[in-house]
Amino acid sequence: MRQLTVCVVLLDILRLVCGSGFWFASYYGDHMVLQKAPERAVLWGFGPENAKVTVYLSGGKKPAYSDYVAAGIWKVTLPPMEAGGPYNVTAVLQDNQTITLTDVLFGDVWLCGGQSNMAFTTGQVFNASEEMSQASKFPEVRIFMAALEQSSTELIDLAAVEVPWSVPTAELLGGGDFKHYSAVCWMFGRNLYQTLRYPIGLVESCWGGTPVEAWSSERALRNCGLEKKMFPMTSAHQEWTYSVLWNAMIHPVLNMTLKGAIWYQGEANTAYHQDIYSCSFPSMIDDWRMAFHQSSGGQTAPDFPFGFVQLSTYTKASKSDEYPNLRWHQTADYGFAPNPRMKNTFMAVAMDLGDELSPYGSIHPRDKQDVAYRLSLGARAVAYAEKRLSFQGPFPNLVLIQDKYLNITYDQGVIVTQSKDIFEICCSADRVPCNHNSTWVPAPILNWALRCVKVSTTYCSSSDNVAGLRYAWRDWPCDLKACPVYSADGVLPAPPFTVNRWPDKKYNSENTFL
Ligand SMILES: *[C@@H]1O[C@H](CO)[C@@H](O)[C@H](O)[C@H]1NC(C)=O
Ligand SMILES: *[C@@H]1O[C@H](CO)[C@@H](O)[C@H](O)[C@H]1NC(C)=O
Ligand SMILES: *[C@@H]1O[C@H](CO)[C@@H](O)[C@H](O)[C@H]1NC(C)=O
Ligand SMILES: *[C@@H]1O[C@H](CO)[C@@H](O)[C@H](O)[C@H]1NC(C)=O
Ligand SMILES: *[C@@H]1O[C@H](CO)[C@@H](O)[C@H](O)[C@H]1NC(C)=O
Ligand SMILES: *[C@@H]1O[C@H](CO)[C@@H](O)[C@H](O)[C@H]1NC(C)=O
Repeated sequence: MRQLTVCVVLLDILRLVCGSGFWFASYYGDHMVLQKAPERAVLWGFGPENAKVTVYLSGGKKPAYSDYVAAGIWKVTLPPMEAGGPYNVTAVLQDNQTITLTDVLFGDVWLCGGQSNMAFTTGQVFNASEEMSQASKFPEVRIFMAALEQSSTELIDLAAVEVPWSVPTAELLGGGDFKHYSAVCWMFGRNLYQTLRYPIGLVESCWGGTPVEAWSSERALRNCGLEKKMFPMTSAHQEWTYSVLWNAMIHPVLNMTLKGAIWYQGEANTAYHQDIYSCSFPSMIDDWRMAFHQSSGGQTAPDFPFGFVQLSTYTKASKSDEYPNLRWHQTADYGFAPNPRMKNTFMAVAMDLGDELSPYGSIHPRDKQDVAYRLSLGARAVAYAEKRLSFQGPFPNLVLIQDKYLNITYDQGVIVTQSKDIFEICCSADRVPCNHNSTWVPAPILNWALRCVKVSTTYCSSSDNVAGLRYAWRDWPCDLKACPVYSADGVLPAPPFTVNRWPDKKYNSENTFL
């Protein structure tokens, strides 16, 4: 008896070593959503060496798929399944031992990652009780959350699960501040469900206050010149160490098939490796895509859609460039997404959703409804190819230099409200590229029409001296939903931008100025 207990404990800790157990990897569970067609869902687990494992789906045609356990692991790829359910998924070992997952649905699986603004729960948002009470209306949006774990090596299975696959309830959605369940993740999934009308599986794997380096593999970091090292911090911040969250909270779920990912992170990088974020963030996306594609045996798309939230606001009166710079770097210095460096991505602008009085600190704005809505517009356009859907705020594609003003032409219609200083110019008579260190002066809006905004250049001695133009380049650029430039339908804020007339090679703004 004692021996048996020891073995069970060992099995739990070192699943592969004991060798005779038979179970699904901890990501799998009752009430889960598996990825629907055209992709094929991957199921895997542990078993005794060389044993045959056969997987059956209840209902319908009951297809059976089998594999032999190798190196302690079996893995089965199901046929493409139409959205719907419920199914029971039964794995049978050698015709005499059975494990079953019940109430399994097929739909689209989305991974939700990042730091505290992704961890921020539905219980913390504006109108929290109303939002939580809606849980029961969405029984086909299923939620799962990995526990906060870190590891110095790549784990095969999750060390622990915070929320096993569940049908949503108000209690699960508001289960303790920053615990569960992510408001952005939940509302994003709920919005998608309202459009798609089939099951959505949400996998939350995020940790407050963490930098992108912790979520990146060594491979991804090396691309940006970051070599393996320990972050020089107290033991209280071990989760900042390179790759430790990739190892413990992403690597173990690589084998699942997923539709896409959303990400809300960057605050921790505003003052840490900020200048390389335009490399480290796209590099992490590339690496996740490659790894999920490979580990799922090609089922997860090699360029799966990746949505992210551009940082909101932190300090109202701040003159620091940390937030605007990081927002810019989140787009690989293009200002918009998708872009040539970050294909198949989408971005929710959030700089107009500041919340100075948030009881969770101004870094945690409570309006997550608009964040999730903007993300879901991006997903519908980019991941689901919905046509004629406005999902990006206006971005300038031409700046004409006139005698006493600049004529900024946007890529779409705009609604503009007056501002004396949201646009700024930098002046240089000697064709020197502008950067954060340049002196920027206001360029008051003169007037606007359809797609064009005219801004004054009188703060430079002449229009000839204008060397750069930027928009909303500050931590807290405007009041709630009151930035000066929105899309013509008034829904989507224009993202911040900076363009150089005499660009240095680091900027992606050539040909904008004429
Ligand atoms: C799944 O199994 C349970 C018993 O464990 C049974 O009640 C249920 O009807 C089964 N569902 C399907 C779809 O076969
Ligand atoms: C299951 O079957 C295998 C051979 O088919 C046998 O070796 C094993 O003892 C059986 N296990 C149980 C628990 O019946
Ligand atoms: C994925 O499945 C393979 C077997 O195909 C297994 O070797 C690996 O450990 C699993 N997990 C990860 C994270 O790759
Ligand atoms: C909260 O509810 C009120 C009343 O329904 C609504 O006007 C407001 O937009 C909601 N807030 C958010 C952030 O959704
Ligand atoms: C601004 O430029 C556009 C072309 O992009 C042109 O149609 C428009 O007339 C110009 N407006 C002003 C005030 O110069
Ligand atoms: C801005 O100035 C700081 C301090 O003088 C310098 O370290 C930094 O390299 C400058 N940045 C740019 C983009 O020139």
